[in-house]
Amino acid sequence: MKRYFIETWGCQMNVHDSEKLAGLLAGLGYDRAERPEDSDLVLLNTCSVREKAAAKVFARLGALRRIKQRRPGMLLGVCGCVAQQEGEAVFRRAPYVDLVMGPRNLARLPEILEQAQRDGRSISLARDDDPIAFPASTAARRAGPRAYVTVMEGCNKTCTYCIVPFTRGREAYRRPEEIVAESSELAGRGYVEIELLGQNVNAWRSGEDDLASLLHMIDRIRGIRRLRFTTSHPGHLKTPIMDAMRDVPSVCNHLHLPVQSGSDRMLMAMNRGYTRAKYLGKIDYLRRAIPDIAFSTDVIVGFPGETEADFHETLALLREAEFDQVYAFAFSKRPGTQACDLAETLSEDEKQRRLQELFSVQESILGRRNAALVGRRFEVLVDGPTRLDSDVLKGRTTCNRIVHLDAPPGDVQPGDFLDVRITRAHAHSLSGAVLVRAGAA
Ligand code: SAM
Ligand code: SF4
Ligand code: F3S
Repeated sequence: MKRYFIETWGCQMNVHDSEKLAGLLAGLGYDRAERPEDSDLVLLNTCSVREKAAAKVFARLGALRRIKQRRPGMLLGVCGCVAQQEGEAVFRRAPYVDLVMGPRNLARLPEILEQAQRDGRSISLARDDDPIAFPASTAARRAGPRAYVTVMEGCNKTCTYCIVPFTRGREAYRRPEEIVAESSELAGRGYVEIELLGQNVNAWRSGEDDLASLLHMIDRIRGIRRLRFTTSHPGHLKTPIMDAMRDVPSVCNHLHLPVQSGSDRMLMAMNRGYTRAKYLGKIDYLRRAIPDIAFSTDVIVGFPGETEADFHETLALLREAEFDQVYAFAFSKRPGTQACDLAETLSEDEKQRRLQELFSVQESILGRRNAALVGRRFEVLVDGPTRLDSDVLKGRTTCNRIVHLDAPPGDVQPGDFLDVRITRAHAHSLSGAVLVRAGAA
Protein backbone atom coordinates (compact mmCIF):
# COMPACT_ATOMS: atom_id res chain seq x y z
CA MET A 1 0.00 0.00 0.00
CA LYS A 2 1.28 3.49 -0.86
CA ARG A 3 1.81 6.03 1.88
CA TYR A 4 1.62 9.82 2.02
CA PHE A 5 2.83 12.58 4.29
CA ILE A 6 1.38 16.11 4.28
CA GLU A 7 3.10 19.03 5.97
CA THR A 8 0.88 22.07 6.54
CA TRP A 9 1.70 25.74 7.10
CA GLY A 10 -0.59 28.75 7.30
CA CYS A 11 -4.16 29.38 8.35
CA GLN A 12 -7.12 27.13 9.24
CA MET A 13 -8.13 27.05 5.56
CA ASN A 14 -4.85 25.30 4.81
CA VAL A 15 -5.28 22.92 7.74
CA HIS A 16 -8.69 21.96 6.40
CA ASP A 17 -7.41 21.78 2.80
CA SER A 18 -4.87 19.23 4.04
CA GLU A 19 -7.75 17.23 5.54
CA LYS A 20 -9.42 17.30 2.13
CA LEU A 21 -6.18 16.18 0.42
CA ALA A 22 -5.83 13.37 2.97
CA GLY A 23 -9.40 12.25 2.25
CA LEU A 24 -8.77 12.18 -1.49
CA LEU A 25 -5.58 10.20 -0.98
CA ALA A 26 -7.39 7.68 1.23
CA GLY A 27 -9.86 7.28 -1.65
CA LEU A 28 -6.92 6.47 -3.93
CA GLY A 29 -5.78 3.75 -1.54
CA TYR A 30 -3.01 5.70 0.20
CA ASP A 31 -2.26 5.27 3.89
CA ARG A 32 -0.94 8.04 6.16
CA ALA A 33 2.76 7.86 7.11
CA GLU A 34 4.27 9.42 10.23
CA ARG A 35 7.38 10.74 8.46
CA PRO A 36 8.40 11.77 4.92
CA GLU A 37 11.12 9.09 5.11
CA ASP A 38 8.41 6.40 4.98
CA SER A 39 6.31 8.00 2.24
CA ASP A 40 5.71 7.51 -1.46
CA LEU A 41 4.13 10.95 -1.74
CA VAL A 42 5.06 14.08 0.22
CA LEU A 43 2.91 17.19 -0.12
CA LEU A 44 3.81 20.59 1.32
CA ASN A 45 0.67 22.64 1.83
CA THR A 46 2.18 26.10 1.89
CA CYS A 47 1.52 29.68 2.99
CA SER A 48 2.83 32.82 1.31
CA VAL A 49 1.27 35.49 3.49
CA ARG A 50 4.69 36.74 4.65
CA GLU A 51 8.08 36.43 3.00
CA LYS A 52 9.49 34.27 5.78
CA ALA A 53 6.70 31.71 5.45
CA ALA A 54 7.29 31.42 1.70
CA ALA A 55 11.09 31.18 2.10
CA LYS A 56 10.68 28.30 4.56
CA VAL A 57 9.08 26.22 1.80
CA PHE A 58 12.20 26.25 -0.34
CA ALA A 59 14.42 25.49 2.66
CA ARG A 60 12.18 22.53 3.48
CA LEU A 61 12.20 21.35 -0.14
CA GLY A 62 16.01 21.23 0.01
CA ALA A 63 15.83 18.82 2.97
CA LEU A 64 13.14 16.68 1.32
CA ARG A 65 15.24 16.41 -1.82
CA ARG A 66 17.78 14.35 0.13
CA ILE A 67 15.04 11.96 1.27
CA LYS A 68 13.74 11.71 -2.28
CA GLN A 69 17.20 10.79 -3.54
CA ARG A 70 17.15 7.79 -1.20
CA ARG A 71 13.60 6.78 -2.20
CA PRO A 72 13.33 6.35 -5.97
CA GLY A 73 9.75 6.78 -7.14
CA MET A 74 8.78 9.10 -4.30
CA LEU A 75 6.68 12.03 -5.51
CA LEU A 76 7.13 15.51 -4.05
CA GLY A 77 4.42 18.12 -4.43
CA VAL A 78 3.93 21.78 -3.53
CA CYS A 79 0.32 22.79 -2.85
CA GLY A 80 -1.33 25.85 -1.35
CA CYS A 81 -0.60 29.54 -1.64
CA VAL A 82 3.12 29.39 -2.54
CA ALA A 83 2.25 26.95 -5.34
CA GLN A 84 -0.30 29.40 -6.75
CA GLN A 85 2.01 32.38 -6.34
CA GLU A 86 5.19 30.83 -7.75
CA GLY A 87 3.66 28.48 -10.34
CA GLU A 88 6.26 27.19 -12.83
CA ALA A 89 8.97 29.00 -10.86
CA VAL A 90 8.75 26.21 -8.26
CA PHE A 91 10.16 23.79 -10.89
CA ARG A 92 12.91 26.25 -11.80
CA ARG A 93 13.97 26.74 -8.17
CA ALA A 94 13.45 23.10 -7.18
CA PRO A 95 13.58 20.92 -10.34
CA TYR A 96 13.10 17.73 -8.30
CA VAL A 97 9.51 18.77 -7.44
CA ASP A 98 6.96 16.59 -9.30
CA LEU A 99 3.73 18.50 -8.88
CA VAL A 100 2.53 22.04 -8.20
CA MET A 101 -1.10 22.59 -7.29
CA GLY A 102 -2.89 25.83 -6.34
CA PRO A 103 -5.44 25.92 -3.50
CA ARG A 104 -8.47 26.05 -5.85
CA ASN A 105 -7.41 22.78 -7.49
CA LEU A 106 -7.60 20.34 -4.60
CA ALA A 107 -10.33 18.21 -6.12
CA ARG A 108 -8.11 17.58 -9.13
CA LEU A 109 -5.48 15.78 -7.03
CA PRO A 110 -6.19 12.32 -8.53
CA GLU A 111 -5.63 13.50 -12.12
CA ILE A 112 -2.65 15.67 -11.12
CA LEU A 113 -1.00 12.65 -9.46
CA GLU A 114 -1.70 10.48 -12.47
CA GLN A 115 -0.16 13.06 -14.79
CA ALA A 116 2.92 13.49 -12.58
CA GLN A 117 3.43 9.71 -12.61
CA ARG A 118 2.89 9.47 -16.37
CA ASP A 119 4.71 12.60 -17.61
CA GLY A 120 7.15 13.19 -14.75
CA ARG A 121 5.62 16.56 -13.89
CA SER A 122 2.24 18.18 -13.35
CA ILE A 123 1.04 21.70 -12.63
CA SER A 124 -2.49 22.93 -11.98
CA LEU A 125 -3.14 26.56 -11.16
CA ALA A 126 -6.56 27.29 -12.63
CA ARG A 127 -8.77 29.40 -10.43
CA ASP A 128 -12.28 28.09 -10.34
CA ASP A 129 -14.80 30.84 -9.92
CA ASP A 130 -17.58 28.24 -9.80
CA PRO A 131 -19.19 27.46 -6.48
CA ILE A 132 -16.95 25.07 -4.56
CA ALA A 133 -18.04 21.55 -5.35
CA PHE A 134 -16.62 19.29 -2.69
CA PRO A 135 -18.24 16.05 -1.67
CA ALA A 136 -18.94 16.36 2.03
CA SER A 137 -17.56 13.00 3.04
CA THR A 138 -14.18 13.41 1.34
CA ALA A 139 -12.24 15.27 4.04
CA ALA A 140 -10.28 13.07 6.47
CA ARG A 141 -10.75 15.21 9.55
CA ARG A 142 -8.59 14.94 12.63
CA ALA A 143 -10.23 13.20 15.54
CA GLY A 144 -11.76 15.38 18.20
CA PRO A 145 -14.85 17.28 19.01
CA ARG A 146 -14.29 20.09 16.46
CA ALA A 147 -14.63 20.08 12.68
CA TYR A 148 -13.96 22.69 10.03
CA VAL A 149 -16.49 23.31 7.27
CA THR A 150 -15.61 25.48 4.25
CA VAL A 151 -18.34 27.97 3.38
CA MET A 152 -16.46 30.16 0.92
CA GLU A 153 -13.12 30.47 -0.83
CA GLY A 154 -11.14 33.49 -1.96
CA CYS A 155 -11.25 37.19 -1.16
CA ASN A 156 -12.58 40.15 -3.18
CA LYS A 157 -10.92 42.77 -0.94
CA THR A 158 -7.86 44.72 -1.97
CA CYS A 159 -5.92 45.27 1.23
CA THR A 160 -2.73 46.79 -0.15
CA TYR A 161 -0.33 44.49 1.74
CA CYS A 162 -2.08 41.18 1.13
CA ILE A 163 -1.27 38.37 -1.28
CA VAL A 164 -4.28 36.20 -0.41
CA PRO A 165 -6.60 37.54 -3.18
CA PHE A 166 -3.88 36.53 -5.68
CA THR A 167 -3.37 33.06 -4.26
CA ARG A 168 -6.95 32.14 -3.38
CA GLY A 169 -8.75 33.95 -6.18
CA ARG A 170 -12.13 35.67 -6.22
CA GLU A 171 -14.81 34.84 -3.68
CA ALA A 172 -16.91 31.76 -4.38
CA TYR A 173 -19.66 30.70 -1.99
CA ARG A 174 -20.84 27.22 -1.21
CA ARG A 175 -24.56 26.58 -1.38
CA PRO A 176 -26.32 26.54 2.02
CA GLU A 177 -27.83 23.07 1.36
CA GLU A 178 -24.32 21.65 0.93
CA ILE A 179 -23.04 23.37 4.07
CA VAL A 180 -26.03 22.18 6.13
CA ALA A 181 -25.75 18.64 4.72
CA GLU A 182 -22.05 18.44 5.58
CA SER A 183 -22.63 19.86 9.08
CA SER A 184 -25.49 17.39 9.69
CA GLU A 185 -23.31 14.52 8.59
CA LEU A 186 -20.57 15.69 10.98
CA ALA A 187 -23.06 15.99 13.85
CA GLY A 188 -24.16 12.44 13.08
CA ARG A 189 -20.54 11.33 13.40
CA GLY A 190 -20.25 12.90 16.85
CA TYR A 191 -18.65 16.29 16.11
CA VAL A 192 -20.15 18.79 18.53
CA GLU A 193 -18.39 21.97 17.41
CA ILE A 194 -18.35 23.33 13.87
CA GLU A 195 -16.10 26.14 12.70
CA LEU A 196 -17.18 27.70 9.41
CA LEU A 197 -14.21 28.75 7.30
CA GLY A 198 -13.63 31.41 4.68
CA GLN A 199 -10.97 34.08 4.05
CA ASN A 200 -13.78 36.58 4.32
CA VAL A 201 -16.37 34.41 6.01
CA ASN A 202 -18.88 37.10 6.87
CA ALA A 203 -19.14 38.11 3.20
CA TRP A 204 -20.82 34.73 2.57
CA ARG A 205 -24.15 34.96 0.79
CA SER A 206 -26.48 32.87 -1.31
CA GLY A 207 -29.59 34.45 -2.82
CA GLU A 208 -31.37 36.17 0.06
CA ASP A 209 -29.28 34.36 2.69
CA ASP A 210 -26.33 35.89 4.54
CA LEU A 211 -24.07 34.56 7.28
CA ALA A 212 -26.70 35.42 9.91
CA SER A 213 -29.26 33.15 8.22
CA LEU A 214 -26.64 30.43 7.75
CA LEU A 215 -25.90 30.48 11.49
CA HIS A 216 -29.62 30.01 12.21
CA MET A 217 -29.77 27.11 9.72
CA ILE A 218 -26.82 25.25 11.25
CA ASP A 219 -28.02 25.89 14.79
CA ARG A 220 -31.12 23.81 14.00
CA ILE A 221 -29.00 20.68 13.42
CA ARG A 222 -29.30 18.31 16.39
CA GLY A 223 -26.00 17.58 18.11
CA ILE A 224 -24.14 20.77 17.21
CA ARG A 225 -23.54 22.55 20.49
CA ARG A 226 -20.93 25.09 19.44
CA LEU A 227 -20.68 27.11 16.27
CA ARG A 228 -17.81 29.43 15.27
CA PHE A 229 -16.80 31.20 12.08
CA THR A 230 -13.55 32.71 10.86
CA THR A 231 -12.13 35.05 9.50
CA SER A 232 -14.44 38.03 9.67
CA HIS A 233 -13.79 41.36 8.00
CA PRO A 234 -14.97 44.35 10.07
CA GLY A 235 -16.56 45.91 6.99
CA HIS A 236 -18.84 42.91 6.49
CA LEU A 237 -19.80 42.61 10.15
CA LYS A 238 -23.34 43.93 9.65
CA THR A 239 -25.89 44.27 12.42
CA PRO A 240 -27.85 41.07 11.51
CA ILE A 241 -24.65 39.01 11.94
CA MET A 242 -23.91 40.63 15.30
CA ASP A 243 -27.51 40.06 16.37
CA ALA A 244 -27.27 36.41 15.30
CA MET A 245 -24.19 36.07 17.52
CA ARG A 246 -26.38 37.21 20.40
CA ASP A 247 -29.51 35.23 19.50
CA VAL A 248 -28.35 31.91 18.04
CA PRO A 249 -27.77 29.60 21.02
CA SER A 250 -24.88 27.53 19.62
CA VAL A 251 -22.87 30.53 18.34
CA CYS A 252 -19.87 31.00 20.63
CA ASN A 253 -19.16 34.25 22.41
CA HIS A 254 -15.83 34.80 20.70
CA LEU A 255 -14.99 36.71 17.54
CA HIS A 256 -11.74 36.99 15.62
CA LEU A 257 -11.91 40.45 14.08
CA PRO A 258 -8.64 41.59 12.48
CA VAL A 259 -8.09 45.33 12.96
CA GLN A 260 -4.54 45.63 11.46
CA SER A 261 -3.94 49.15 12.83
CA GLY A 262 -5.38 51.69 15.25
CA SER A 263 -4.46 54.63 13.02
CA ASP A 264 -6.95 55.91 10.46
CA ARG A 265 -4.06 57.07 8.27
CA MET A 266 -2.66 53.52 8.17
CA LEU A 267 -6.09 51.91 7.74
CA MET A 268 -6.56 54.14 4.72
CA ALA A 269 -3.11 53.27 3.32
CA MET A 270 -3.92 49.58 3.85
CA ASN A 271 -7.28 50.08 2.08
CA ARG A 272 -9.16 48.37 4.89
CA GLY A 273 -12.36 50.29 4.26
CA TYR A 274 -13.20 51.23 7.87
CA THR A 275 -12.02 53.70 10.48
CA ARG A 276 -10.80 53.14 14.01
CA ALA A 277 -14.10 54.55 15.32
CA LYS A 278 -16.18 52.23 13.11
CA TYR A 279 -14.18 49.23 14.28
CA LEU A 280 -14.49 50.16 17.95
CA GLY A 281 -18.20 50.84 17.42
CA LYS A 282 -18.70 47.19 16.41
CA ILE A 283 -16.72 45.92 19.40
CA ASP A 284 -18.86 48.14 21.62
CA TYR A 285 -22.14 46.93 20.06
CA LEU A 286 -21.16 43.30 20.60
CA ARG A 287 -19.94 43.90 24.18
CA ARG A 288 -23.28 45.47 25.06
CA ALA A 289 -25.20 42.64 23.36
CA ILE A 290 -23.03 39.79 24.71
CA PRO A 291 -21.36 40.97 27.93
CA ASP A 292 -18.97 37.99 28.21
CA ILE A 293 -17.78 38.08 24.60
CA ALA A 294 -14.04 37.74 23.92
CA PHE A 295 -12.25 39.20 20.91
CA SER A 296 -9.05 38.34 19.13
CA THR A 297 -7.39 40.29 16.34
CA ASP A 298 -4.54 40.58 13.82
CA VAL A 299 -2.21 43.57 13.72
CA ILE A 300 0.47 44.61 11.24
CA VAL A 301 3.23 46.88 12.56
CA GLY A 302 5.68 48.79 10.40
CA PHE A 303 3.52 49.29 7.34
CA PRO A 304 5.35 51.80 5.05
CA GLY A 305 4.86 55.31 6.43
CA GLU A 306 3.82 54.18 9.94
CA THR A 307 5.02 56.87 12.36
CA GLU A 308 5.60 56.46 16.08
CA ALA A 309 2.29 58.33 16.59
CA ASP A 310 0.43 55.85 14.31
CA PHE A 311 1.96 52.97 16.23
CA HIS A 312 0.88 54.52 19.54
CA GLU A 313 -2.67 54.72 18.21
CA THR A 314 -2.52 50.96 17.66
CA LEU A 315 -1.31 50.45 21.25
CA ALA A 316 -4.10 52.71 22.50
CA LEU A 317 -6.64 50.67 20.50
CA LEU A 318 -5.36 47.45 22.11
CA ARG A 319 -5.90 49.06 25.54
CA GLU A 320 -9.36 50.21 24.59
CA ALA A 321 -10.59 47.02 22.91
CA GLU A 322 -8.98 44.64 25.45
CA PHE A 323 -8.45 41.67 23.14
CA ASP A 324 -7.90 38.22 24.57
CA GLN A 325 -5.50 37.33 21.81
CA VAL A 326 -3.49 39.44 19.40
CA TYR A 327 -1.65 37.97 16.42
CA ALA A 328 0.81 40.67 15.43
CA PHE A 329 3.21 40.65 12.49
CA ALA A 330 5.89 42.94 11.09
CA PHE A 331 4.91 44.19 7.64
CA SER A 332 6.37 41.99 4.92
CA LYS A 333 6.53 43.04 1.24
CA ARG A 334 4.60 40.64 -0.98
CA PRO A 335 5.07 40.46 -4.73
CA GLY A 336 2.27 41.89 -6.85
CA THR A 337 0.55 43.72 -3.98
CA GLN A 338 0.08 47.50 -4.07
CA ALA A 339 2.23 47.98 -0.99
CA CYS A 340 5.08 46.19 -2.72
CA ASP A 341 5.77 49.38 -4.67
CA LEU A 342 5.87 51.57 -1.55
CA ALA A 343 9.25 52.54 -0.13
CA GLU A 344 9.84 50.94 3.26
CA THR A 345 10.29 53.67 5.87
CA LEU A 346 11.33 51.51 8.81
CA SER A 347 14.28 49.21 9.37
CA GLU A 348 13.69 45.57 10.29
CA ASP A 349 15.08 46.38 13.75
CA GLU A 350 12.56 49.16 14.26
CA LYS A 351 9.68 46.93 13.13
CA GLN A 352 10.83 44.28 15.59
CA ARG A 353 11.11 46.85 18.39
CA ARG A 354 7.52 47.96 17.76
CA LEU A 355 6.38 44.36 17.64
CA GLN A 356 8.02 43.58 20.99
CA GLU A 357 6.55 46.70 22.58
CA LEU A 358 3.11 45.70 21.30
CA PHE A 359 3.49 42.18 22.72
CA SER A 360 4.48 43.56 26.11
CA VAL A 361 1.48 45.93 26.20
CA GLN A 362 -0.80 43.03 25.25
CA GLU A 363 0.80 40.71 27.87
CA SER A 364 -0.15 43.11 30.64
CA ILE A 365 -3.70 43.55 29.30
CA LEU A 366 -4.12 39.78 29.08
CA GLY A 367 -2.50 39.20 32.48
CA ARG A 368 -5.08 41.49 34.04
CA ARG A 369 -7.98 39.97 32.11
CA ASN A 370 -6.98 36.39 32.90
CA ALA A 371 -6.39 37.13 36.61
CA ALA A 372 -9.96 38.47 36.82
CA LEU A 373 -11.26 35.08 35.70
CA VAL A 374 -9.87 33.14 38.67
CA GLY A 375 -12.81 31.76 40.69
CA ARG A 376 -15.28 31.96 37.77
CA ARG A 377 -17.07 28.95 36.29
CA PHE A 378 -17.06 28.01 32.62
CA GLU A 379 -18.35 25.22 30.45
CA VAL A 380 -15.26 23.58 28.94
CA LEU A 381 -15.30 21.29 25.92
CA VAL A 382 -12.44 18.80 26.32
CA ASP A 383 -10.03 18.77 23.34
CA GLY A 384 -7.42 16.24 24.43
CA PRO A 385 -4.02 16.24 26.15
CA THR A 386 -2.03 19.50 26.37
CA ARG A 387 0.83 17.73 24.56
CA LEU A 388 1.02 14.34 22.89
CA ASP A 389 3.13 12.96 25.75
CA SER A 390 1.14 14.51 28.57
CA ASP A 391 -1.77 13.25 30.66
CA VAL A 392 -2.95 16.76 31.49
CA LEU A 393 -6.14 17.44 29.54
CA LYS A 394 -7.11 20.77 28.07
CA GLY A 395 -10.25 22.22 26.62
CA ARG A 396 -11.84 25.45 25.52
CA THR A 397 -14.54 27.71 26.82
CA THR A 398 -17.11 29.10 24.40
CA CYS A 399 -15.13 32.36 24.60
CA ASN A 400 -12.17 30.38 23.17
CA ARG A 401 -10.01 30.48 26.29
CA ILE A 402 -7.76 27.45 26.73
CA VAL A 403 -8.20 25.75 30.11
CA HIS A 404 -5.82 23.11 31.46
CA LEU A 405 -7.74 20.71 33.64
CA ASP A 406 -6.38 19.98 37.12
CA ALA A 407 -6.77 16.25 37.77
CA PRO A 408 -10.08 15.57 36.02
CA PRO A 409 -11.97 12.38 36.87
CA GLY A 410 -10.38 9.38 35.13
CA ASP A 411 -13.22 8.82 32.70
CA VAL A 412 -13.08 12.27 31.06
CA GLN A 413 -12.80 12.02 27.26
CA PRO A 414 -12.26 14.48 24.43
CA GLY A 415 -15.70 15.72 23.46
CA ASP A 416 -16.98 15.87 27.05
CA PHE A 417 -18.49 19.10 28.35
CA LEU A 418 -17.34 19.93 31.87
CA ASP A 419 -18.29 22.54 34.40
CA VAL A 420 -14.95 24.00 35.47
CA ARG A 421 -13.87 26.55 38.08
CA ILE A 422 -10.79 28.59 37.10
CA THR A 423 -8.04 28.12 39.68
CA ARG A 424 -5.01 29.85 38.13
CA ALA A 425 -4.21 32.27 35.33
CA HIS A 426 -1.12 31.87 33.11
CA ALA A 427 0.31 34.04 30.33
CA HIS A 428 -1.84 32.56 27.54
CA SER A 429 -4.07 30.02 29.25
CA LEU A 430 -5.94 29.17 32.42
CA SER A 431 -6.04 26.19 34.79
CA GLY A 432 -9.27 24.93 36.21
CA ALA A 433 -10.76 22.35 38.54
CA VAL A 434 -13.55 20.15 37.25
CA LEU A 435 -16.72 20.66 39.27
CA VAL A 436 -19.19 18.54 37.39
CA ARG A 437 -19.42 16.77 34.13
CA ALA A 438 -21.91 18.93 32.25
CA GLY A 439 -22.92 16.13 29.87
CA ALA A 440 -21.08 13.99 27.38
CA ALA A 441 -21.23 14.64 23.65
N1 SAM B 1 -8.85 37.82 5.80
C1 SAM B 1 -8.33 38.17 7.04
C2 SAM B 1 -8.47 39.65 7.27
O1 SAM B 1 -8.96 40.38 6.48
O2 SAM B 1 -8.05 40.15 8.28
C3 SAM B 1 -6.91 37.69 7.29
C4 SAM B 1 -6.06 37.21 6.21
S1 SAM B 1 -4.34 36.94 6.41
C5 SAM B 1 -4.31 35.30 5.91
C6 SAM B 1 -3.96 36.81 8.11
C7 SAM B 1 -3.20 37.99 8.65
O3 SAM B 1 -1.89 38.04 8.12
C8 SAM B 1 -3.78 39.33 8.31
O4 SAM B 1 -4.88 39.65 9.10
C9 SAM B 1 -2.61 40.26 8.52
O5 SAM B 1 -2.54 40.71 9.85
C10 SAM B 1 -1.42 39.37 8.22
N2 SAM B 1 -0.78 39.75 6.96
C11 SAM B 1 -1.30 39.66 5.72
N3 SAM B 1 -0.43 40.15 4.81
C12 SAM B 1 0.67 40.57 5.50
C13 SAM B 1 1.90 41.18 5.12
N4 SAM B 1 2.17 41.48 3.86
N5 SAM B 1 2.79 41.46 6.10
C14 SAM B 1 2.52 41.17 7.39
N6 SAM B 1 1.38 40.59 7.80
C15 SAM B 1 0.46 40.30 6.87
FE1 SF4 C 1 -6.11 39.76 2.74
FE2 SF4 C 1 -7.64 41.86 3.20
FE3 SF4 C 1 -8.65 39.72 1.96
FE4 SF4 C 1 -8.05 39.58 4.53
S1 SF4 C 1 -9.63 40.92 3.62
S2 SF4 C 1 -7.54 38.08 2.97
S3 SF4 C 1 -6.24 40.87 4.70
S4 SF4 C 1 -7.07 41.10 1.18
FE1 F3S D 1 -1.30 31.66 4.15
FE2 F3S D 1 -2.79 31.23 2.08
FE3 F3S D 1 -3.81 31.05 4.50
S1 F3S D 1 -1.24 32.77 2.23
S2 F3S D 1 -2.58 32.46 5.69
S3 F3S D 1 -2.27 29.76 3.65
S4 F3S D 1 -4.83 31.83 2.69
